[in-house]
Amino acid sequence: MSDYFNPAGFPLARPRRLRQAPWARRLTQETRVHPSQLILPVFVLDGNGRREAVASMPGVHRESIDGILRTAEAASTLGVSALALFPVVDVALKCPQGREASNPEGLVPRAVAALKSRFPDLGVICDVALDPYTSHGQDGLLGPAGEVLNDETVAALVEQALMQAAAGADVVAPSDMMDGRVLAIRRALESAHQQNTQILAYSAKFASAFYGPFRDAVGSAAQLGKADKKTYQMNPANGREAWTEAAMDVAEGADMLMVKPGLPYLDVIRQLSEATPMPVLAYQVSGEYAMLKAAAQAGWLDERSTQLEALTCLIRAGARGVLTYAALDLARWLRDEA
Ligand code: PBG
Repeated sequence: MSDYFNPAGFPLARPRRLRQAPWARRLTQETRVHPSQLILPVFVLDGNGRREAVASMPGVHRESIDGILRTAEAASTLGVSALALFPVVDVALKCPQGREASNPEGLVPRAVAALKSRFPDLGVICDVALDPYTSHGQDGLLGPAGEVLNDETVAALVEQALMQAAAGADVVAPSDMMDGRVLAIRRALESAHQQNTQILAYSAKFASAFYGPFRDAVGSAAQLGKADKKTYQMNPANGREAWTEAAMDVAEGADMLMVKPGLPYLDVIRQLSEATPMPVLAYQVSGEYAMLKAAAQAGWLDERSTQLEALTCLIRAGARGVLTYAALDLARWLRDEA
């Protein structure tokens, strides 16, 4: 330990002194969370008046745009900063090239336009990736041997991101893990005079088994079958490699970086938030949500305190904000505590 860290030692030092009174615990608290640090991911369905429960994510629903607008109203009233849109695409619209991804009349641009006209102050984040649209469930285009092609996929992602920006998305968030996609998207946005569209780069997105419930929710699990995404998403065993990914995304013009999943990757959140002054967000993914929710429903964990603790720990590790399916509940609990 360095010189300045030289505690007197017991009994002069009694760290418990500061933990005795609630006022002193509040005063000395290092990390505070606020509803503005929350982003709510939502699953959008086509049609009207549709609302379906996601079995593996209790409390989460797929909703048509009318329902998403009600959710947006709640989010905005509670001070949540943004929604992240994930489309549930009709199987009939899926093809190997995922062409529906850049359809300007598609579900996502219609949802974006509806949200921005009703709630201009609520941020709207669009996922840039082909998996909801491909008949094989991969995030990219396939080559002859079934391999996921990089540069060809990047070209398709550029079209998708340009369409989302034109529809009014505040943020485009490439979650596909192709190399070079941030630079290609940034250049295309500049040429299209969309220079204020933010890029939230999923820099460190791991090939995680914690995405299972999400793939059920958007209906990509059936398409993907037994295949995996290990040739593009990162190996969960690699922490240092996240620096390479993050450095590239910063150099290529990203505005914010993301680490995903959240709680099992606190070390990566810490590393990236120290390595770059850029805002780093964390994604508490579907499997993390499902674990807490299932244990709470079984009466094994207290939902409110575990959710608040998980959020606090993600922020303590260095996340500037958190995407979480519990964003509305968390915002209510934070409001009631204040
Ligand atoms: C795919 C995508 C995934 C998630 C967000 N975007 C899943 C995947 O990579 O298969 C997962 C989110 C979650 O589990 O909550 N582009």
